[in-house]
Amino acid sequence: SETGCLSIIVLGASGDLAKKKTFPALYHLYRQGFLHSNEVHIFGYARTKISDDDLRDRIRGYLGKDAEHVSKFLQLIKYVSGSYDSEDGFQLLDKEISQHEESKNSTEGSSRRLFYLALPPSVYPPVCRMIKKCCMNKSDLGGWTRIVIEKPFGKDLESAENLSAQIGELFEEPQLYRIDHYLGKELVQNLLVLRFANRFFLPLWNRDNIANVQIVFREDFGTEGRGGYFDEYGIIRDIIQNHLLQVLCLVAMEKPVSLKPEHIRDEKVKVLQSVLPIQDNEFVLGQYEGYRDDPTVPDQSNTPTFATVVLRIHNERWEGVPFILKAGKALNSRKAEIRVQFKDVPGDIFKCQKQGRNEFVIRLQPSEAMYMKLTVKQPGLEMSTVQSELDLSYMQRYQGVPIPEAYERLILDTIRGDQQHFVRRDELKAAWEIFTPLLHRIDNGEMKPKEYQPGSRGPVEADELLAKVGYVQTHGYIWIPPTL
Ligand code: BG6
Repeated sequence: SETGCLSIIVLGASGDLAKKKTFPALYHLYRQGFLHSNEVHIFGYARTKISDDDLRDRIRGYLGKDAEHVSKFLQLIKYVSGSYDSEDGFQLLDKEISQHEESKNSTEGSSRRLFYLALPPSVYPPVCRMIKKCCMNKSDLGGWTRIVIEKPFGKDLESAENLSAQIGELFEEPQLYRIDHYLGKELVQNLLVLRFANRFFLPLWNRDNIANVQIVFREDFGTEGRGGYFDEYGIIRDIIQNHLLQVLCLVAMEKPVSLKPEHIRDEKVKVLQSVLPIQDNEFVLGQYEGYRDDPTVPDQSNTPTFATVVLRIHNERWEGVPFILKAGKALNSRKAEIRVQFKDVPGDIFKCQKQGRNEFVIRLQPSEAMYMKLTVKQPGLEMSTVQSELDLSYMQRYQGVPIPEAYERLILDTIRGDQQHFVRRDELKAAWEIFTPLLHRIDNGEMKPKEYQPGSRGPVEADELLAKVGYVQTHGYIWIPPTL
């Protein structure tokens, strides 16, 4: 049932994720009319003993400037304090939720309960146990109970499977929403449409035409303020094993039988299962100079803040095409993009004048765009060539259309019960299988990351690896995002 009383419970309500992402996303949904004050109630739950107003004051500053709407929204939030592993707190929470349901359900009703765990994964199992025991939706009213969780889902294959098993004993897969916020980004969601609704790409999207694919994440700042967390995980667990690998699945998968979430996720799992073990000479790890100056990072830390990893997909479409996943902190720019590079033109009569190959680039952020780099005649009297682009820049083409924040869209999906953009348990397992052997070698100290300067492109070895696997850099051309 998708109508009736809706209770959204944010556990870890005073933490960073809740303040910066969860509550602002809920506020934006409210502002756009997706959460109606006559049926929705939001509960914050955490250990700290504070009042409703204390919580409201803590999050107010993250919501926006429209004081009147912000205040109205904040009135929907109630705070309940309690521990994460004892029944008292959760019984109290259940009482509050039930009271709200009874007050809203005088006429028709259902009991929809969405639990958002903005918590460290170590407490997922006890919290899930408590929810199961004390806080499930009232079945006589109908409705549902759903659980939203966020990475890190474990640290390797074994710990992830262990966590999945513990949670899986309590909740069925359709009740579990594993968020990977990259799946909520506009241009990531567009991949499915782009690939399967356009004749252009069908014949080209394979090993006959594509030389290599890069999926790149760069940040121009370090691990400021979260060095302690980061050091336990490193760039592969923080970005590559989840965000970039999810994007890879959507770039590489076969056409799903239909748009049903299970059909799409079936195809993603197949891609992951076709990835070959990572080769010793096909990755480069880096750590920026100064990373270990952070007092929360151990002096001897081996943790990579940069990695380039080549994945090989063993199937008919992709054999021989390197998929290069690259992510780094403290680099020279901030952006995320997919770069599909095509092979050279056979028997090319323009070869000696060319600046580079055809590329299809999807800029995920910032300046969302897709552009195709191609060679055209240089306009003018001379017969010479130049690299140019067919450019679909969202800011220009969709003026005034706001691009929703990833969390906003994903939370709306959880309310609607659409699991398409969430990670299924077998998908998570297959993703860990790919990276666990490499991660264990890093953890055992077998691998020393190369040092790189903050503000640089990362270790030079990474560019050498790119060239070795066949990426050809374009010379004398850069794409400039259009401005209005
Ligand atoms: C998070 C990582 O999942 O994604 C962070 O833990 C990273 O390290 C962030 O900064 C990047 O997200 P976005 O949406 O800004 O690209």
